[in-house]
Amino acid sequence: MSSLLCTIIFLVFNLAAFTSNGQLVYHGFSGVNLTLDGNAMVTADGFLELTNDTINLGHAFYPTPQNFRKLPNSTVQSFSVTFVFAILSVHDDISADGMAFFVAPSKNLSNTWAQYIGLLNSRNDGNTSNHMFAVELDTTQNDEFKDIDNNHVGININSLTSLQAHHTGYYDDKSGFFNNLTLISGKAMQVWADYDGESAEISVTLAPLGEPKPVRSLLSSSYNLSDVLREQSYIGFSATTGAISTRHCVLGWSFAMNGPAPAIDISRLPKLPRLGPKPRSKTLDITLPIATGIFVLTVGTIVVLLVRRRLRYMELREDWEIDFGPHRFSFKDLYRATQGFNKKNLLGTGGFGIVYKGVLRKSKVKVAVKRVSHESTQGLKEFIAEVVSIGRLRHRNLVPLLGYCRRHGELLLVYDYMSNGSLNKYLYPEDGKPSLNWAERFRIIKGVAFGLLYLHEKWEKVVIHRDIKPGNILLDSEMNARLGDFGLSRLYDHGTDPQTTHVVGTMGYLAPELVRTGRASTLTDVFAFGIFLLEVICGQKPVKKDSQGNLQHGLFDLVLEHFHNRSLIQTVDSRLQGDCNIEEACLALKLGLLCSHPFTNARPSMQLVMKYLEGDTPLPEVPSTHFGFTMQALMQSKGFESPTLSFPHLTSIATFSDLSGGR
Ligand SMILES: *[C@@H]1O[C@H](CO)[C@@H](O)[C@H](O)[C@H]1NC(C)=O
Ligand SMILES: *[C@@H]1O[C@H](CO)[C@@H](O)[C@H](O)[C@H]1NC(C)=O
Ligand SMILES: *[C@@H]1O[C@H](CO)[C@@H](O)[C@H](O)[C@H]1NC(C)=O
Ligand SMILES: *[C@@H]1O[C@H](CO)[C@@H](O)[C@H](O)[C@H]1NC(C)=O
Ligand SMILES: *[C@@H]1O[C@H](CO)[C@@H](O)[C@H](O)[C@H]1NC(C)=O
Ligand SMILES: *[C@@H]1O[C@H](CO)[C@@H](O)[C@H](O)[C@H]1NC(C)=O
Ligand SMILES: *[C@@H]1O[C@H](CO)[C@@H](O)[C@H](O)[C@H]1NC(C)=O
Repeated sequence: MSSLLCTIIFLVFNLAAFTSNGQLVYHGFSGVNLTLDGNAMVTADGFLELTNDTINLGHAFYPTPQNFRKLPNSTVQSFSVTFVFAILSVHDDISADGMAFFVAPSKNLSNTWAQYIGLLNSRNDGNTSNHMFAVELDTTQNDEFKDIDNNHVGININSLTSLQAHHTGYYDDKSGFFNNLTLISGKAMQVWADYDGESAEISVTLAPLGEPKPVRSLLSSSYNLSDVLREQSYIGFSATTGAISTRHCVLGWSFAMNGPAPAIDISRLPKLPRLGPKPRSKTLDITLPIATGIFVLTVGTIVVLLVRRRLRYMELREDWEIDFGPHRFSFKDLYRATQGFNKKNLLGTGGFGIVYKGVLRKSKVKVAVKRVSHESTQGLKEFIAEVVSIGRLRHRNLVPLLGYCRRHGELLLVYDYMSNGSLNKYLYPEDGKPSLNWAERFRIIKGVAFGLLYLHEKWEKVVIHRDIKPGNILLDSEMNARLGDFGLSRLYDHGTDPQTTHVVGTMGYLAPELVRTGRASTLTDVFAFGIFLLEVICGQKPVKKDSQGNLQHGLFDLVLEHFHNRSLIQTVDSRLQGDCNIEEACLALKLGLLCSHPFTNARPSMQLVMKYLEGDTPLPEVPSTHFGFTMQALMQSKGFESPTLSFPHLTSIATFSDLSGGR
């Protein structure tokens, strides 16, 4: 009797010690009290599923906070965590976005974005007031965060830019060699993360499920978390997906303060879910006896159907494409996704091709498929290499490219579907719907500038866009402006003779020297960006037809005139009345004039444009002597003649006397 009492007392004592020590261990999560949000749920099989589809976000928190410091002002104690996870994507080779174990000061992570794995957003990324520590398992290469690849583990402090990151894998204890692992393999793996409060060292180790913890850790970094974590913080998991249906699962989890995390007994873990098509039904293989006549008839019909089908879905494939294999879609899939390129799925017709909306059959991913006709294969290889590699990088201001397909005389590009469509729709809304407000417009301008800066200066090669205009700017679900059609102009760059070049671009956004020589440069993009800026702020199309049907550069002239009259603010879109930051508007209008300056050497680089927009560098005062002659004389001396087009702003007297004085 007394021994029973002792046992009970011992158990009660032990349980108390268990919680006050901040220890937990879970083999599966059935019946476990977790705080879940978003799409996170505990499945019938007992594992924690943070996401299970496209455009998903899920968090799971231990319901009560942990004491990371003994006293409010003492240092952060050692802690240790281990968990077993699996990432299951509908595709073998691509997934989005990733998952993380985190320590955070609150259970409110509602204001976070997918690209930031549901931990942060663009406004608070990097801010020390986040008080956040995370171990990320990242399956997308995001240039913004300087990601090393699309399969890495990282230590993150207050930011999605990792303190340290490593390609996923582990060091074999016996041989010492590094073995690669693939996060999205669908196989369960175990992660160990430890923080030593004495030495302020963080280490992270990974191994396939069933392997003991490797001696050599994957990541180890010195960082004093006493400068980061709050006394009381929550621990948990976060995951997000984008266009690719992915399940981020946790099978087991243990955590301890001031000691090693309890071992996870893998025999007690729930079974992993299976993803992908169900195994083929056996009944399909059962053949029935048929009369010979019917048999022959059937075979004949099938042959005819197959030949027709083959022709319909015929593609072009060459040896050099092997490298791009994973990014190649079959025409059949795209044909089905768009219901045979049905008219009702038409999204628009651009300078480069026709765009259809579609839903990929297996993954249910919404896509936009662009059909571009091209005659020669010249330059196509470089084009595909460039476009595929830029598109794979996740940049906040570029439309993600999922892959491509090639047919005779035709190229198909598959992009993420942008749920909010093109900027045109918002700038010129139908029947009295509200237009964009000032903050949205300014954010879109900065986004476009950032995307263009990336193409011009941050990518391995200089990429000229050639067709900046609201119709080519798409808005994602978070109203981020994203540039479409990047790299496409390369298709037109090859083997062209300046005499016969047909100018790529849109009237109204074409720089004078581009019309003259047919040669695009980063500065012709800057010109178009300048016109785009004016258009977004004034809410007016850049060109209008006059009574004779000639195109007039009305908008530029209008803004220039008001600039001279020091009444710039009157040009701002009347729909913005009362909701406009006058300083920002004047800055943007002047910058628009500067970018669209007829002389290339007066236009700033996108780097500078970005600095002006961010207010890091004041807009320069341009001396009046800089523009002491007429454009008309200049254009004529260069032999610029165009019987059908007139560019009044080029022929007007361009006297940008003082760019800073035009309010
Ligand atoms: C996905 O998760 C949601 C909860 O967020 C759930 O309602 C739905 O049934 C899940 N779908 C599948 C296929 O498991
Ligand atoms: C879960 O834990 C929270 C915090 O301790 C508590 O308020 C809640 O009642 C618990 N829920 C259940 C079902 O035990
Ligand atoms: C730490 O905090 C405790 C109570 O919050 C206070 O009594 C003590 O003086 C503080 N110590 C230091 C070094 O600030
Ligand atoms: C969560 O935080 C956001 C701001 O980040 C706030 O708007 C929202 O009200 C908060 N939600 C809760 C439930 O506290
Ligand atoms: C960091 O966040 C705090 C609180 O949200 C805010 O007041 C501060 O301005 C932010 N700092 C920066 C550099 O963004
Ligand atoms: C592991 O992956 C890296 C990066 O993808 C690659 O360079 C390396 O050759 C791979 N190592 C092995 C042993 O496969
Ligand atoms: C970490 O920082 C705290 C103060 O923030 C300091 O007391 C402690 O000594 C530091 N630890 C190490 C290992 O540097």
